[in-house]
Formats: sequence, C-alpha cells, structure tokens
Amino acid sequence: SASKLLIKGGTVVNAHHQEIADVYVEDGIIVAVKPNIKVGDDVTVLDATGKFVMPGGIDPHTHLAMEFMGTETIDDFFSGQAAALAGGTTMHIDFVIPVKGSLSKGFEAYKEKAKKSCMDYGFHMAITKWDENVSREMEIMVKEKGINSFKFFMAYKGALMINDELLLEGLKKCKSLGALAMVHAENGDAVFEGQKRMIELGITGPEGHALSRPPVLEGEATARAIRLASFVNTPLYVVHVMSIDAMEEIAKARKSGSIFWAPLGQRVIGEPVVSGLVLDDSGLWDPDFINAAKYVMSPPIRALGHDKALQAALSTGNLQLVGTDHCAFNSTQKAFGIDDFRKIPNGVNGIEERMHLVWDTMVESGQISVTDYVRITSTECARIFNMYPRKGAILAGSDADIIILNPNSSFQITARSHHSRSDTNVYEGRKGKGKVEVTIAGGKIVWENDELKAVPGSGKYIEMQPFSYLFNGIDKADAKYLSSLQAPVQRSKAAS
Ligand code: URP
Ligand code: ZN
Ligand code: ZN
Ligand code: ZN
Repeated sequence: SASKLLIKGGTVVNAHHQEIADVYVEDGIIVAVKPNIKVGDDVTVLDATGKFVMPGGIDPHTHLAMEFMGTETIDDFFSGQAAALAGGTTMHIDFVIPVKGSLSKGFEAYKEKAKKSCMDYGFHMAITKWDENVSREMEIMVKEKGINSFKFFMAYKGALMINDELLLEGLKKCKSLGALAMVHAENGDAVFEGQKRMIELGITGPEGHALSRPPVLEGEATARAIRLASFVNTPLYVVHVMSIDAMEEIAKARKSGSIFWAPLGQRVIGEPVVSGLVLDDSGLWDPDFINAAKYVMSPPIRALGHDKALQAALSTGNLQLVGTDHCAFNSTQKAFGIDDFRKIPNGVNGIEERMHLVWDTMVESGQISVTDYVRITSTECARIFNMYPRKGAILAGSDADIIILNPNSSFQITARSHHSRSDTNVYEGRKGKGKVEVTIAGGKIVWENDELKAVPGSGKYIEMQPFSYLFNGIDKADAKYLSSLQAPVQRSKAAS
C-alpha cells in the first residue's frame, strides 16, 4: 500500500553524514536507514540511484493568509504549502499576527486558516504592542499552544513597530519563558524620515523604497537588538538579514569575547532569506511599475555585493539558516502603490524556489557541501525550534518528510508554471542545476513527475517546546555577571 515506501540506492544525506543507503518508511515514519533493505511486494519502491535523499526543507519564515498593508497575501495555507511541496519544502513556520491585540484570538484565527494545510506547519507569534495581557498571553502560548518564539518589529512605524522599552520587556519575558526572541531589525523612526525625504524629492516609485531604508538602518537596529539582548542576556534570532551591515553585527556578536557573549556566542542567530542571497536591487529601477514593485520587501533587496557577502557568511557559519519570508502579492495588489511606494504591499515569493536556488547558488557553485545544504535548509531550523530529530533528519524514528534531488537535472522558474497564486515571480526566467524530483511529506508521495498530489487537511500542527537546553548556563552566566558588577564587595573594617 502507499503507506509503505522504500527509497533504494540513493545517497542519504544528514547534516553531519552522508552514505549510500536505502530508506524504509511506514505510516509516515522512517523505520530504517541502511544498505540493501529487502521488502515484500506491497511496498512502493522508488529508485534513487545517483540522486540525493535528504530531509525535506523547513522554511523558518513565511506569511500565508496574512492581512498586511490593507490587503491579504495571495497565498493561503493551501496554495502556499502546495507551492512549497513542489519545491521540496515539507514544513514551514508561519507568523501569527494578533487579532485586536489578543494573542489567543490571533492563534485561533491562524489555526482556522491552517485547516486546509497539506503539509506540517508550526507558528511563531508576532508581538505588536505591550501590556499585562500580552505578557500573560505569551505565557499561555508557550505553556499550552506549542509556540516557542516571538517576533518583535523594530520597523513599520504606526502599525507593527514597538519601541526599545517594549522590546526590553519582550526580551525579558522570552527569557523567563525559555522562548526565542526574533527581531525585524530596521530603525522604524529613521525609515519614516527616509520615506518623507524621498517623497519630498519627488521619488515616488519603487526605487524610493530601497533609497528610503538603506543598509545603515538595518545595521543600526541589528546592533541595537543584539546589545539589548546581551543586556538581558537572552538569545536573539535576527530574521531576514539582507545587508552586510546587519550580517557583520551578527558575526561580531557570535565571536565576541565579552563577559556576556564568550560562553553564549552561538546564541545570536542570523537568517538570510533567499531573495537577499540571489537578487540585487537593480529590478527596483525597472521602468515598468509592476516589474519593479514585485521586488519591494523589507528590509529591501540590496545593491550588488550584499548577495555574495551573505552567501559567504552562510558558508563560513556567520549566518546559520535560510528562510524565504514568502509573502506573495499579485500585480493588482502591488498596484496599490502606483503613485506612492509607501503603499506597495511589502513582500516577495520564495517558498517554492528556496531549495532549488540554494542548491544551485551554494552547492552547485562549490561554496558548500551537500551536508551543509541539509543543515542550512532543514536541520538547523529543526534544532533551533526544538523539533530535532523528529524533523530535519533522515533517521529511524524521524517523520518521513523526504526529498529526492537529482543533481544532473535542471530547473527553470516562471510564473507560468509555478504553484503560487501570484501572477508574478521575482525569480522569473531563472535556470539552474539540481531538481527536486520527488517530495514525500508525512510518508506520502506528494510530488513526482512534475505532478502535485497535495491533500487539503493532511498537514499537522507541530508544537514546539520551550528550549530549556538553550538556556542551560545562562543563569550561571547571569550570576557571575551580577556578582562581578553589582553585588556589594565585602570588605573588612580592620586594617591588616
Ligand atoms: O516585506 C516583508 N518582509 N514582508 C513580510 C513582513 C515582514 O516584515 O517579515
Ligand atoms: Zn550513517
Ligand atoms: Zn519582518
Ligand atoms: Zn517576514
């Protein structure tokens, strides 16, 4: 039956090891990984000779069915996930946006939206304001709802942005709950000022978006968030790292020999997104408005050079894992900003393209190994969000989320054949080597021979536990810090 699968003769790749082996799957779980597994004729056999058998991609950063900037993203939990499966991604973590300030209402709304899921998913929670109720609800989210990460927006002034005082409250709360704080790091006040400046200069087109929020504002906010997290002494995850400026702050914090960070260097995590790795800002100057507006996202896609630097940082370990920030809009929605770039809904596609683009850009080019590819597209995300080894591994007992990639085949990206509902694609026309030929999600073949068999309702909600393991040693480090700097020094009155 279809619930028993044998993948024969491929190179099985985990983040630390690769070997030629068979993978046997029953009822959605990997049962065995070893050479020459013999099975009966009730088992579906896939020949993977000459191909790579890898954990399905996990996208740490998506926005499906999100209400944002006066509209809703074009991809919902079915179309976005179907696109993901066609591109070799078998799980994603989406951002719950609170409803009328309530985290619980936001969570319930997203559970409802996700009922049509065709692959597994988890949630981060966005924190967009601060009061006693938010603080209490964060605790409920962590203890009862399977959420272990919260995103704070340092940008989108007047909408999602919070100030430093609230960020500090949030960081302290995350620390006390064993949850991971995430930041959208751009200086929102300065962005607001930059936007006014562009409009005053008469620059109202999509290029004004990039000009109004340069890398220095991303670097400043990244540095500030890292320093505040250091002051609170809690881990920090910087989402959508788009510039050298931000990347260098993360790299520096991870290497820092300061009293805080010496034992905690691994606790600053940087997530570049695929648009930042493979695109530059030239598209924003396209004379056709829609062609330019499709590239508008925040932080912006940067000038040529930032892309290569982010790739290099991934290959040296200064950045840790790749997301997409998939937040797709169609041309009609992008056209909201025809007279004013500030009204262009921010976001680009990528959930279907990430696995192919990272393979071609990083592995095919020789920058990273195949095991590193598995680490940055899947395993590291599973580890950070406390799902490993259920997710992110091809091991006996892991969920059967598996892809078969043929390194000798090729891919080509176009909106005419992609699975997103958007009518545009920021990677239009792009070709490369390496193709995901088979995707297996929850033990079922959902993508084969360029055919998708996504079943609405088949995806499961994956609860993520707070990560006390990450915090081991933090209290000790705190105690040392407090005693070295704050506890009164005991001195005897008598002269010796
Ligand atoms: O432009 C973007 N990134 N849109 C999605 C929202 C966010 O800031 O991640
Ligand atoms: Zn092995
Ligand atoms: Zn963001
Ligand atoms: Zn995002």
